[in-house]
Amino acid sequence: MMKYLILQYPGHNRVYYNVAAQLAVSELSIAAKRLSVRCQKIDFEDVCGVRYITITLDDELSPEDVAILSRLSFVFAIFNQFGLHADDGLAPIPMAKYEYIDSKISTLQKYAGKTNELFTKMMVNVALLASDFSYDDNISLLDPVSGRGTTLNEATVYGFNAFGIEIEPKSVHENQIFFKKYLQNERYKFLADKRMVYGKKKSEAIYMHEFHYANSKEAFKNKEEQKQLGIVNGNSQDADKYFKKNSFELIVGDLPYGIAHGNTGANKSTTGTRNPLELVRTCLPAWKAVIKKGGTIVLAWNSFVLAKNRLAEVFEEHGLKVLNDAPYNGFEHMVDKSIKRDIIVVKKL
Ligand SMILES: C[S@@+](CC[C@H](N)C(=O)[O-])C[C@H]1O[C@@H](n2cnc3c(N)ncnc32)[C@H](O)[C@@H]1O
Repeated sequence: MMKYLILQYPGHNRVYYNVAAQLAVSELSIAAKRLSVRCQKIDFEDVCGVRYITITLDDELSPEDVAILSRLSFVFAIFNQFGLHADDGLAPIPMAKYEYIDSKISTLQKYAGKTNELFTKMMVNVALLASDFSYDDNISLLDPVSGRGTTLNEATVYGFNAFGIEIEPKSVHENQIFFKKYLQNERYKFLADKRMVYGKKKSEAIYMHEFHYANSKEAFKNKEEQKQLGIVNGNSQDADKYFKKNSFELIVGDLPYGIAHGNTGANKSTTGTRNPLELVRTCLPAWKAVIKKGGTIVLAWNSFVLAKNRLAEVFEEHGLKVLNDAPYNGFEHMVDKSIKRDIIVVKKL
């Protein structure tokens, strides 16, 4: 038997830190299914006034297991317990280095409507860990409601190819400017392009801002090693017109919360619908077409405005598998008075 103690990332946001303990247990439980050793128990333990999350395993973690745990959104440090009690001694475990580009990319921007970056990282992990793919595969992720790009930033940290669809031109503009400046400031080699991805006439053209980049000059020289980031200014219901079938291993996004600033805007071309059920219903055929078999869809939404079973029904009607059992159902939490956030995990079998 082996016991490990994990120190939770203190984060910047007090509210999020307090709810994050429960989310951490769910994220860790999903990760535990991917470890090479059987997990006996996940728990909390107070050591000298500090809360740790503990995981008890049949045997020692392999380097591959440490790499999985090192990526979890709440993990700050991992210790191995020597004897039966924490007082017997804790040895720090060297964490795996996995960042393709520095994770500061998703902390630099502050704006209204930004999704918490640790929560976003957690969604990306849940999606990957629930899929048939692994971190070392050549992963392409789509955020179908990408806003100003928190999910895309988290995906680039992992070295995934990252694509977003966002209906509001201003958000697309800000996102594209930010990413370009980031690559320039950090002196990454890159190519930036704007190309038409859909439309017969110029007036109805849909464009994608596209970047090819690499984290070293040598890697950039080899096209195969370049990473891609693309942001489409369009409507997510047309995802299958902008991207080829089976393009993505993962779809991850934070749906509109259904509460902000009145106006449902459903029929305006540059304003997305604020009704998450309506949005999923209209977009799902296109999302299903662009996601690969064995891939997963993870979406966050406000469960005050929409019950989980109603959202789940839509996915099931389209022949997708909603992962409803523990630990996939352990993510609901309060954000503020009007938002109770949850995530749904769906797989294309
Ligand atoms: C909660 S926000 C996402 C915020 C993002 N995660 C971030 O941190 O910047 C949801 C986004 O969905 C967009 N949206 C709504 N309907 C859409 C549609 N049909 N197609 C594409 N984007 C849509 C909204 O404009 C909004 O930016």
